[in-house]
Amino acid sequence: MKEKKDNIFKIEKIESDFQFNKEVANIFDDMLNRSIPFYRQVIEAIGEILEKALPQNPVIYDLGCSTGNTLIYLASVLKDKKPELIGIDNSKDMVEKAKEKAKAYNKEIEFIVSDIESIEFKQADAIIMNYTLQFIRPLKRPEIIKKNYKSLKEKGIFILSEKVILEHPELNRDFLEIYYNFKKKQGYSELEIAKKREALENVLIPFTIKENIGLLKNAGFSYSTTFFQWINFASFVAVK
Ligand SMILES: C[S@@+](CC[C@H](N)C(=O)[O-])C[C@H]1O[C@@H](n2cnc3c(N)ncnc32)[C@H](O)[C@@H]1O
Repeated sequence: MKEKKDNIFKIEKIESDFQFNKEVANIFDDMLNRSIPFYRQVIEAIGEILEKALPQNPVIYDLGCSTGNTLIYLASVLKDKKPELIGIDNSKDMVEKAKEKAKAYNKEIEFIVSDIESIEFKQADAIIMNYTLQFIRPLKRPEIIKKNYKSLKEKGIFILSEKVILEHPELNRDFLEIYYNFKKKQGYSELEIAKKREALENVLIPFTIKENIGLLKNAGFSYSTTFFQWINFASFVAVK
């Protein structure tokens, strides 16, 4: 499917905080590819981890699935395991896009419009939450991670990817600059980068790697570690 280009922050002024609305859903794949370092490689690594760790007929959730990229990819690489794939997102526009794409790629995936905070899951073999926990209010995060833990079967796998901050202010500033340079290389102008940063200010609240590992430990996971980090982005895997 042809990707539409992200021009959202080329406009003169920001009307409001960042939202996952129709305008964003329409260009979201381009935004993901140009804003999240190693976006595709992380999805591929998840495919490999789950291919090795999961039994036949696994139930796999993707929370904050957006336009469905991860599940569409997993439907291909895990097809011999015959997985049941379920994507949850509270943006109707994102879920519509995800359904459209799954149909175009001929993949059987259930996409549900719902809030992660209120939905009840069935017992799952794996739960993925990529770049979504950072949008949940910090006070709510422990509860969400505990709910995920409870919804996993014994030895179930939880995958988490997040933008992260450092405890070291100078290094943190340097890392942010490196990240903005990455965005410039992806074709975003300084103005676009500054506007998006402003729009995300109160919406995306990153934790440190230690805080994220702490959330996983406190929820009860028997083991958790990072499997990927590039500057201020990290992915974690935890085992029940
Ligand atoms: C950065 S995107 C996630 C990207 C996606 N996981 C991927 O890897 O392609 C964050 C998504 O989380 C969704 N979201 C944010 N808060 C949510 C909530 N409380 N319940 C359900 N979805 C939520 C947004 O609508 C958005 O689609």
